[in-house]
Amino acid sequence: MKFLVTGAAGFIGFHVSERLLQAGHQVTGIDNLNDYYEVSLKEARLNLLANENFRFVKLDLADREGMAQLFAEEKFDRVIHLAAQAGVRYSLENPHVYADANLTGHLNVLEGCRHNKVQHLLYASSSSVYGLNRKMPFSTDDSVDHPVSLYAATKKANELMSHTYSHLYGLPTTGLRFFTVYGPWGRPDMALFKFTKAMLEGKSIDVYNYGKMKRDFTYVDDIVEAIIRMQDVIPQADPNWTVENGSPATSSAPYHIYNIGNSSPVELMDYITALEEALGIEAQKNMMPIQPGDVLETSADTQPLYDTIGFKPQTSVKEGVKKFVEWYKSYYKA
Ligand SMILES: NC(=O)c1ccc[n+]([C@@H]2O[C@H](COP(=O)([O-])OP(=O)(O)OC[C@H]3O[C@@H](n4cnc5c(N)ncnc54)[C@H](O)[C@@H]3O)[C@@H](O)[C@H]2O)c1
Repeated sequence: MKFLVTGAAGFIGFHVSERLLQAGHQVTGIDNLNDYYEVSLKEARLNLLANENFRFVKLDLADREGMAQLFAEEKFDRVIHLAAQAGVRYSLENPHVYADANLTGHLNVLEGCRHNKVQHLLYASSSSVYGLNRKMPFSTDDSVDHPVSLYAATKKANELMSHTYSHLYGLPTTGLRFFTVYGPWGRPDMALFKFTKAMLEGKSIDVYNYGKMKRDFTYVDDIVEAIIRMQDVIPQADPNWTVENGSPATSSAPYHIYNIGNSSPVELMDYITALEEALGIEAQKNMMPIQPGDVLETSADTQPLYDTIGFKPQTSVKEGVKKFVEWYKSYYKA
């Protein structure tokens, strides 16, 4: 099949593209290769080009004509939309980038799918949509109307925009709420990467909320496995669904939302311990207050995911962190 993967030079997009290529699919990857973090890492991920079934187009999601032309020319069967401006903290300083990439960009993807009869659009949402929710684990049956960062608000908006297109145009859409993804080729702006770099350079690490935070850390291969299985599960319209009796994760339209998390939240300090063990270095910890926009705990209810695809993430932090460190040391020759 012919896939479009947006954000193919990004962390998750790279891994997903690699798996699709291994399975023999044709993949067109797009990315604007912006400098939110080191561009050389994004370029290195484009070693995907070694596979003749991979084509790369440097394109901004917000480029309306460019996106329309790409969709019209390529006639994709399926679309996996992972490009976005990510990061909670950066959205406090640079709100407009989020509107361009995550709102205008998402609209351009929806329009492309609508006008070119794409069979299935999968797109990345985020655990951050749970915002002020305190009931654990987070369930896709819960309401998510209280985001605490603009990033989270744009991800929630993506779900709403997708629902509209599923309803109006019958476009099958599946939104996947990822929970703190980590692993080889990971993102330099995320804790594991920053901690590893600082510890190898003999510098201290900033530990927010004095380490009193829990995250449902999810290993990237598990995310990819779930995406690969999920792209074959095309949501169907359910005429019997009503707002009163149905889950907010489903609809009368061909629309579905799932959590993809590890469903075993880990204390930040235990995550750091796993890293200390993998590196054989004790971290010098700089205890800091909580950052605006951060949430205290995330935990995914993944039962609906398991019921649908017979798989849920389960790589332990100890195992996943070890694999990240192996990659980091070989990539940076550290
Ligand atoms: N990594 C996580 O923990 C996590 C958690 C929840 C949700 N997500 C979501 O998963 C998706 C993938 O995240 P990631 O961790 O791989 O991030 P990433 O930043 O590594 O990848 C995103 C890619 O999109 C590209 N991009 C950004 N804006 C663009 C634009 N306007 N036009 C074209 N390309 C653009 C970037 O250059 C980047 O390569 C994102 O939608 C993100 O919001 C990630």
